[in-house]
Amino acid sequence: MQKIIILDFGSQTTQLIGRRVRELDTFCEILPYNKFPQDDPDVIGVILSGSPFSVYDPEAFKIDLAQIRGRYPILGICYGAQFMSHTLGGRVEPAPSREYGRQHLTTIDLDNPLFKGFDLGSQVWMSHGDTITAIPEGFQCIASTESVKYAAYCATPTAHGCGLWGVQFHPEVFHSVQGSLLLKNFVVDICGSTQSWSAASFVDTTVTELKAQLGNDRVILGLSGGVDSSVAAVLISRAIGDRLTCIFVDHGMLRKNEFTQVMEDYKCLGLNVIGVDASEKFFADLAGVTDPEQKRKIIGRDFIEVFNAEAKKITDARWLGQGTIYPDRIESLNITGKVIKSHHNVGGLPKEMHLQLCEPLKWLFKDEVRRVGRQLGMPEHLISRHPFPGPGLAVRILGDITPEKVQILQNADDIFIRGLREYVCEDGETLYNKVWQAGAILLSTVRSVGVMGDERTYEHPVALRAVTSTDAMTADWAHLPYDFMARVSTDIINQVRGVNRVCYDISSKPPATIEWE
Ligand code: XMP
Repeated sequence: MQKIIILDFGSQTTQLIGRRVRELDTFCEILPYNKFPQDDPDVIGVILSGSPFSVYDPEAFKIDLAQIRGRYPILGICYGAQFMSHTLGGRVEPAPSREYGRQHLTTIDLDNPLFKGFDLGSQVWMSHGDTITAIPEGFQCIASTESVKYAAYCATPTAHGCGLWGVQFHPEVFHSVQGSLLLKNFVVDICGSTQSWSAASFVDTTVTELKAQLGNDRVILGLSGGVDSSVAAVLISRAIGDRLTCIFVDHGMLRKNEFTQVMEDYKCLGLNVIGVDASEKFFADLAGVTDPEQKRKIIGRDFIEVFNAEAKKITDARWLGQGTIYPDRIESLNITGKVIKSHHNVGGLPKEMHLQLCEPLKWLFKDEVRRVGRQLGMPEHLISRHPFPGPGLAVRILGDITPEKVQILQNADDIFIRGLREYVCEDGETLYNKVWQAGAILLSTVRSVGVMGDERTYEHPVALRAVTSTDAMTADWAHLPYDFMARVSTDIINQVRGVNRVCYDISSKPPATIEWE
């Protein structure tokens, strides 16, 4: 399968480049800058990402361009463009002032394949402290803005090999209005992608591969009710049917009625699911615990215990299925050059039971998982469900956790979420679908005075949180309509005993996080 390699030099937007390439129905892999796969016959082009470094920093990430130059078309973005220019004989210097924000391409070589279909004056997004002041000999300047002479340059293909292009702006970000077109020109026209990476082709090839990989083996998979594990389960069951056993643990801190509803959904999808109600154990172990990290540890430990006890009953299982997705696995580089890897799995189980991992979604981004889910005919409410943290409402109750508090929060949360689902905006989309994630938080360590009828109340506030995001790494609070907030607030205070005040969380991430604990 054709692929584009994106070499990551540590920019915050590297994943976004990957997503844009995938939107062009083209497979791509994001690799640390120094891990270029030699001898991979499927590579059709290379993109060099931006970086927090200047090319002059002693710690700056560097590669030997000779290993790719001439062999594949290359597109350098921001630092990628500066690094190529600097390495190949051009000049990069600190810009008189940091070049940041929206700019417009005042000259463009519209005959250059990279700019096919561009409009003069096209808005682009710049974000760099250095700037290219001279390009290598034989290279051409192909676009400028008022303040950035070498906004884009190229070395055209020769008889000896492929060309290279550099852009000092970020085509992957939304504010570069024709950025997707530029990436399409590179990926499709210059690299020759046939754009055959689609949800349908993914399902066909993956089911065939899973059949070959799993043979007659049995697989166990932990379902969470979330989209990733659900789509992974349906894919695996397409390949091996009932030889997949799914386990769904109810720790008692799911949303209102969620366990029953999700179990029904799973059964309708033909999945072989064991539902385990372990809420008593979780509540007992959490009694009196107020420290957020401690809560998470207890829940994690209990979850593994309950899951393992069920899984061990399936004595002939050889595989552990997981809904790991690509962003969970990308080795992203932080500024110190350390590789951070966050790979979630059900700790301990594979080792103890000698299970091999089966992760059919490990190459997909979240939006692609949703596309695959739709392709598999899964119900929309399961596919478009907001992310929900593994420890559930436990991290949305400040203070210790009791079944009564969970019930109060479930009721408040249910009013909020139902409201979001029912509110249709002018463009026909529901508020639920417009936000990345939403939920209520019970501030059970706080009490405030209120008045209801003739009675003084002294009860807990509920905070509502709704955020917009693309990957949960950064998030902004959602600007929900006032009429909606007014109604939800009234409904919660009138209908949920134990709550007499509703607040809205207007913090962005960073510096706040999405969850309160
Ligand atoms: P934060 O609070 O770190 O959350 O901004 C980012 C995203 O991760 C989710 N989250 C979790 N998901 N297990 C999970 O499966 C967890 O322990 C966990 N903690 C946070 C959170 O809901 C948000 O989508």
